[in-house]
Amino acid sequence: MLTKKMEAALNKQIELEAYASFLYLSMASWLDIQGMNGSAQFMHRQSVEERDHMLRIFHYISDVDGHPLTPSVKQVPLKFTSPQELFEMVYEHEKKVTASINKIVDLSYKENDYATLNFLQWYVAEQMEEEALMRTILDRIKLIGNGPQSLYYIDKEMEKINQAEASAAAAEADAEA
Ligand code: FEO
Repeated sequence: MLTKKMEAALNKQIELEAYASFLYLSMASWLDIQGMNGSAQFMHRQSVEERDHMLRIFHYISDVDGHPLTPSVKQVPLKFTSPQELFEMVYEHEKKVTASINKIVDLSYKENDYATLNFLQWYVAEQMEEEALMRTILDRIKLIGNGPQSLYYIDKEMEKINQAEASAAAAEADAEA
């Protein structure tokens, strides 16, 4: 059974994950227009993952007899100035999500809510992975620089990351089978 305070904190997290899903969808659209298909594909996948993050919390609240609330999502940015600016924005948003998850972990200790504490462990690990991935992408973009062919090379790097993620997902599915 959730306390009202915990239920509100989890519903706030649903909002943050929903915003991320829409923000990343908007980024996928912009990248697609720039002809950066590998990067667009990457952001489409991130958008779907964020929806999954949102739904996990939604179902968890239901499972413990709470009331998950479908969030209203404020308008996300539709245009970006460069892939570097875009990925910096992703990284900043991920750091905000991590801080918010950490606050709920803190609350679960204060409220002796061990079920929620256990539930949140998946998010703690996921946020570490996402922040590390975004730092890797930003490091590669900075190495490539702003030369005339930079968009092409950045996109090639994103295709490599897509392939690595697809292989990791296939290996995980094999291990589970
Ligand atoms: Fe669900 Fe990437 O935060």
